[in-house]
Amino acid sequence: MTHPATIATTTDRAATYEAVLARIDALLDGETDWIAAMATVACELHHAFPYYHWTGFYRAVSDDLLVIGPYQGGHGCLRIPFSKGVCGAAARERRTQLVPDVDAFPGHIACSSTTRSEIVVPVLTPAGDLLAVLDVDSDDPAAFDATDQQYLERLCARLGRRFAGTPVR
Ligand code: SME
Repeated sequence: MTHPATIATTTDRAATYEAVLARIDALLDGETDWIAAMATVACELHHAFPYYHWTGFYRAVSDDLLVIGPYQGGHGCLRIPFSKGVCGAAARERRTQLVPDVDAFPGHIACSSTTRSEIVVPVLTPAGDLLAVLDVDSDDPAAFDATDQQYLERLCARLGRRFAGTPVR
């Protein structure tokens, strides 16, 4: 896959993710507050990659509704039902949505008209409960690839294990 010159190569990405995930682990050491964790993760990820233009969490507050959590970037939609958009699809299907072209995704919610591509990863506990989804939007087309998916899924799995049982509703 080719990317615009502004986007890091796969090797750079992997190295950057390794460093960011290690930093997040260190920052969250001993932290038990889920909101503090989400805020820290959003901040660290957002500032590590030039193609991250909106980075944040939507919390699963019921079996069919996501509500905005900590994020970086312009304001996001406040509430997203599971039936709507890329975030809703990730929550409903409980699997990552990698969307190279948001215009080609039926029902995509255009919170920002500049968004061209995105990735949304569910945060699931080992018991399979959905805590939240991690949503990253880019103004670059096809900004995210399998490397992003692999590392973000690793991160979200860690968060799901770590914050299982946390009161989120
Ligand atoms: N792009 C998302 C909506 C969330 S905001 O853009 C921050 C979606 O379609 O689910």
